[in-house]
Amino acid sequence: MSELGIILLILCIGQIHSTYGQECPSTQELQISLRQAQKLLASHEASYLQSLRSLKRKISQLQNSTARMPSRPGDASCPKLDTPVNGRKLGKVLLPGHEVHFLCDPGYELVGSETRQCKDTLTWSGQQAVCKERNECASSPCANGGSCTDEVNGFTCVCARGWAGPTCQSPTPTFFATTTNISASTSGAAAATTFPLTTLLPFVQPSKCSQVQGTTHCSCEAGYTISGRDTSICTDIDECEVFHNGPAGRLCVHACVNTPGGYRCSCPAGYQVSRDGRSCRDIDECATRQNNCTRDRLCVNTYGGFQCVKVECPRTRNVTYAKTSPTRCERNPCPVDNKACSQAPVSISYHHMSVVSNLSAPRVLFRVSALRMIGDALRFAVLESRGRRHFSIQRSDRQTGELLLLSPIQGPDTLEVEVEMSELEKRELIGRYITKITFFISQYEF
Ligand SMILES: *[C@@H]1O[C@H](CO)[C@@H](O)[C@H](O)[C@H]1NC(C)=O
Ligand SMILES: *[C@@H]1O[C@H](CO)[C@@H](O)[C@H](O)[C@H]1NC(C)=O
Ligand SMILES: *[C@@H]1O[C@H](CO)[C@@H](O)[C@H](O)[C@H]1NC(C)=O
Ligand SMILES: *[C@@H]1O[C@H](CO)[C@@H](O)[C@H](O)[C@H]1NC(C)=O
Ligand SMILES: *[C@@H]1O[C@H](CO)[C@@H](O)[C@H](O)[C@H]1NC(C)=O
Repeated sequence: MSELGIILLILCIGQIHSTYGQECPSTQELQISLRQAQKLLASHEASYLQSLRSLKRKISQLQNSTARMPSRPGDASCPKLDTPVNGRKLGKVLLPGHEVHFLCDPGYELVGSETRQCKDTLTWSGQQAVCKERNECASSPCANGGSCTDEVNGFTCVCARGWAGPTCQSPTPTFFATTTNISASTSGAAAATTFPLTTLLPFVQPSKCSQVQGTTHCSCEAGYTISGRDTSICTDIDECEVFHNGPAGRLCVHACVNTPGGYRCSCPAGYQVSRDGRSCRDIDECATRQNNCTRDRLCVNTYGGFQCVKVECPRTRNVTYAKTSPTRCERNPCPVDNKACSQAPVSISYHHMSVVSNLSAPRVLFRVSALRMIGDALRFAVLESRGRRHFSIQRSDRQTGELLLLSPIQGPDTLEVEVEMSELEKRELIGRYITKITFFISQYEF
């Protein structure tokens, strides 16, 4: 209505000057004007409705196109990768630029890609990692005609007659003694000497003697020998002593226990004897519930044991962190102009690695990679810590730093290493990211 009023007023003012001098228009003139105004209004109404319809259509189009748009890039991630059977997977972040690493259990070898990266196309680089049982027999480890049986993390040799030891490297511990004319009365017939067995120790056995053409041959069962002059008695061979260090290495990786006619290997607490009978395999207390970690702690399996670790975000006066995963803390937004806060690490990740003592070096132990770069450069550094001298950082590509073990570490020990990744933009620091890696080093080299 107010629009109509304005139109009328304009018409009146227009008429005043052009046609009627000081006078306002006559009734007739006014009716014409009103009809014109009505027409004008109708045309305005039509065009108004038309633009409303077009606006409505545009909004609907926008709605349709936003519905078709992929979700925020921050939500886009690569499909989850399976942990290989008999292996491990390192790295949980499935976002572009991130890497996942694969390791196989002892006795298995990796087929496929050891490292796969989530590409911008949300697919993984490389091939699926599979842990294939290593064929330890492939190198023909059994000497002197022994036959090899492949086992998980080892092999066993079935030795040909006359040979013994883990790789059939030693002449058989069966000894023949030949004496002549012991008992002429039993000449020609094979005769076993009998002893009252109850009086014998398990490490002593009667020998088996036979006489052939007046000559007596005495022999012992495998694992026994005739020692000294008494050919009627076989004594146990202490394999732990005799074969302690054969050409193929130690008889037992840890400890050897002599048994009547044989031996067995034993392992320290936290290990079990492997199927090859001579090495020790770690017991995963975290997987088998043999641990007593409370629910607020993470169980970390170590060689020979386990650790219950608690990840706590740092608490300082001006900087606060939020725990975004069981092993990650992220800085809360900083108040404007709080320099102490904005220079504090943006995130702190906690990792725990179990390694054996005296691990050979140099070798890469850990990789730190940038998720997505905002700046134009990254800088990697190992921060001051105990054990710092054992480690160094090297670049493997623009966005990845590798933690290198420089020299073997003797266990048992626990070392913490902090890797700092700084992001720079035109040489200005724009963010620091800390990765804290705790190494649990075992007492033994297994
Ligand atoms: C939007 O999508 C609906 C159905 O999804 C369709 O009926 C409508 O015509 C579309 N509108 C436009 C403007 O494309
Ligand atoms: C063993 O005894 C036989 C007779 O029984 C004799 O002929 C032979 O010479 C003896 N051998 C030895 C080595 O004494
Ligand atoms: C777990 O058990 C060990 C002994 O086996 C003990 O020393 C340790 O204090 C226990 N820890 C907890 C959290 O109960
Ligand atoms: C911490 O923040 C307060 C104000 O919130 C400020 O006065 C103080 O200087 C800050 N401390 C540091 C170490 O920056
Ligand atoms: C560590 O390993 C090396 C080679 O593997 C060996 O020569 C050395 O004796 C080992 N050191 C210890 C303390 O066991």
